[in-house]
Amino acid sequence: MTTSLNRRFLLAQRPVGPATRDTFSYEEKPLGEPGPGQILVENHYLSLDPAMRGWMNEGKSYIAPVGLGEVMRALGVGKVLASQHPDYAVGDFVNGALGVQDYFLGEPKGFYKVDPLRAPLPLYLSALGMTGMTAYFALLDVGAPKAGETVVISGAAGAVGSVAGQIARIKGCRVVGIAGGAEKCRFLTEELGFDAAIDYKQGDLAAALKRECPKGIDVYFDNVGGDILDAVLTRLNFKARVVICGAISQYNNEESVKGPANYLALLVNRARMEGFVVMDHAAHFADAAREMGGWLADGRLKSKEHIVEGLEHFPETLNKLFTGENFGKLILKVR
Ligand SMILES: NC(=O)c1ccc[n+]([C@@H]2O[C@H](COP(=O)([O-])OP(=O)(O)OC[C@H]3O[C@@H](n4cnc5c(N)ncnc54)[C@H](OP(=O)(O)O)[C@@H]3O)[C@@H](O)[C@H]2O)c1
Repeated sequence: MTTSLNRRFLLAQRPVGPATRDTFSYEEKPLGEPGPGQILVENHYLSLDPAMRGWMNEGKSYIAPVGLGEVMRALGVGKVLASQHPDYAVGDFVNGALGVQDYFLGEPKGFYKVDPLRAPLPLYLSALGMTGMTAYFALLDVGAPKAGETVVISGAAGAVGSVAGQIARIKGCRVVGIAGGAEKCRFLTEELGFDAAIDYKQGDLAAALKRECPKGIDVYFDNVGGDILDAVLTRLNFKARVVICGAISQYNNEESVKGPANYLALLVNRARMEGFVVMDHAAHFADAAREMGGWLADGRLKSKEHIVEGLEHFPETLNKLFTGENFGKLILKVR
């Protein structure tokens, strides 16, 4: 049993615009012991996700908001130090909602075990974790791409987008990524095998989409929303599928969310737009992880992680997602 203090970030106020250091309060608390049904976990890596910004807001969503004064929710992987739960033993590694803190103490609701001998721990937060599951199910179940179709992905150099694009390539599609900056675009075409990449920061996205998608767009995997969604809608094909995976351009908005002005493209093309939440597919994660593991092993799928060390850097590190400073799956290394 450890005698360490537990450093933790609590949600102190609901932010308007981007979260700042003042959004959180920081405290150090002595560790307790697990009660019946509980486990104590030392957190190793925490997943930083755009969704965390949404969890800070009040109101109805697909999951309850983090309460004021509660530890900020975060998924992570860590090692069981003590257990009073029949399914978990000391030394097991687990994946679950560990929170932005050094140690998790509580009931392991929704937790599952991971094997650090089969894959490095950060991979269980990227391609083999929620990120990979999101890319897999949002693309294959909602986007349903067929070989030869054109798939466009926004946020393409990010955690979800980069995996989704590679899966679309595996399925034989023409894949066009939209990302910010020349370095990210080069990474998509030269390292991940995307057919083309568009730097949306260079302007005239409509012309670039016309150039790179000469046969129109059959599947649009949207991670960003806003103006990029609007531009893509104008190039949709008959019976196209638009996957609403996320809308990061809107999460820090101080005004209301900007909806798509060009939505009548759905009517004209008998196309559809469908929202996606990864947890709906939890029953099939193990099968997907097995298939993704095979692709990682045979080199058809590459996973890029961006690891920042130090729990104390949590607030600034989270914001890298919104400035585009992250390059790959953003992970906070706790120990
Ligand atoms: N529905 C679900 O179940 C589910 C699950 C997981 C994630 N998601 C969603 O998937 C999306 C990607 O998440 P992720 O974890 O993979 O993050 P990520 O793509 O690794 O990081 C976010 C990226 O978004 C881009 N970005 C930020 N602000 C932008 C803006 N205003 N306009 C255009 N691009 C912007 C930046 O890339 P650039 O440098 O290219 O701008 C940044 O690197 C998010 O929308 C997230 O909410 C949904």
